Amino acid sequence: MTPPVPFLAAGDPSAVAAGLVERFRTSYRRDPLGCFMAPGRVNLIGEHVDYNAGRCLPVALPHGTYVAAAARADDTVTVTSLQQDRPWQGRLGRLGPGQVTGWPAYAAGVAWALAADGVDVPGFDLLVDSRVPLGAGLSSSAALECAVALALCALAGVEVDEPLRRRLVGTCMRAETEVAGAPTGGLDQTVSLLARQGHALLLDCLDGSTRQVPWDPETAALSLLVVDTGVSHRLTEGGYRDRRAECEEAARALGVRSLRECHDSPGRLEDVKRVLDRRLCRRVRHVLTEMARVDAAVAQIEQRDWAGLGATFTASHVSLRDDFEVSCPELDAVVEAAAEAGALGARMTGGGFGGSAIALVARERLGAVTETVADAFARHGWRQPAFLEATAAAGARRL
Ligand code: GLA
Repeated sequence: MTPPVPFLAAGDPSAVAAGLVERFRTSYRRDPLGCFMAPGRVNLIGEHVDYNAGRCLPVALPHGTYVAAAARADDTVTVTSLQQDRPWQGRLGRLGPGQVTGWPAYAAGVAWALAADGVDVPGFDLLVDSRVPLGAGLSSSAALECAVALALCALAGVEVDEPLRRRLVGTCMRAETEVAGAPTGGLDQTVSLLARQGHALLLDCLDGSTRQVPWDPETAALSLLVVDTGVSHRLTEGGYRDRRAECEEAARALGVRSLRECHDSPGRLEDVKRVLDRRLCRRVRHVLTEMARVDAAVAQIEQRDWAGLGATFTASHVSLRDDFEVSCPELDAVVEAAAEAGALGARMTGGGFGGSAIALVARERLGAVTETVADAFARHGWRQPAFLEATAAAGARRL
């Protein structure tokens, strides 16, 4: 038997912030204006539907990215991260598309996108500490963007009220798609900025509207377990982009603005088989069945039908694995092992091609599930996965 693996701690936000402020003083030899935090996320369901104008249902993690920030009198910008070897330095006015590469692009891109929105961003020094594991498909990049957005608004003297918070979703998306070069769909930034503790966020990507859905499996002695496979997933690489392009190609061939139109008028389903080749048919089948699963999942959560929800999770995984083809052997192994050890259901979460899976597990089965997953990884000779528990946390804030 593989020894039990400790869960990855989120840390107490005030303590993490206080530690980061201290580090900021040592690194930059002055006080920061403040410390800002934005959470990572898991998506309960609604995968690869955001860029098809569908609905998705993420929850914010207690694991966040923290940013301590101070303005400068010149036009230099400095970004240092406790998780990276080297600090990065640039200049205001040179932070746009094609001008910054690698991880600093997520922070610099936000400064660029804010300035493009008319915010008077000064030169700045940032220090970053991420409790969201990097490359785990838990949206560490969106968490960084959203924390930086709050920090830079504060440095510019702009108060972030509710309407601005909603606009910042678009600002962070521009940073990610145009500067960092990851053509993602907005799910991650929306939940990181708008999440409410104890709730999942039902996001309708057709019009950006949101509804808070109480998410409290703990009251039924259930846990949402997150398993980071350790297989690095990169949204700037080809797979994600290809799937998005396939969906756009299918929508064009079907004569719809987005695949959401096919969900809303099911009569169109007949067209799908007539017009599309088998590969595109499978892609569209995933998107449309996933859109239906989101509706089912919301009803199951509201009715506290946890067994039903578990089955919906697993059906989503099968669809992502077989029709959308974005899973990988490690994610499939987690889902299989979790089911074998008595989880109510499990699925990959996020973009896929690695990253993390979630499992809905009775508290008393948590140990059995983590052990069975760890054993399966050991049997395959894979590096041990990391585990964390997802309780629904609040969105980005100043600490
Ligand atoms: C990534 C992207 C999101 C979304 C998911 C898949 O997390 O950042 O916009 O497309 O993949 O649901």
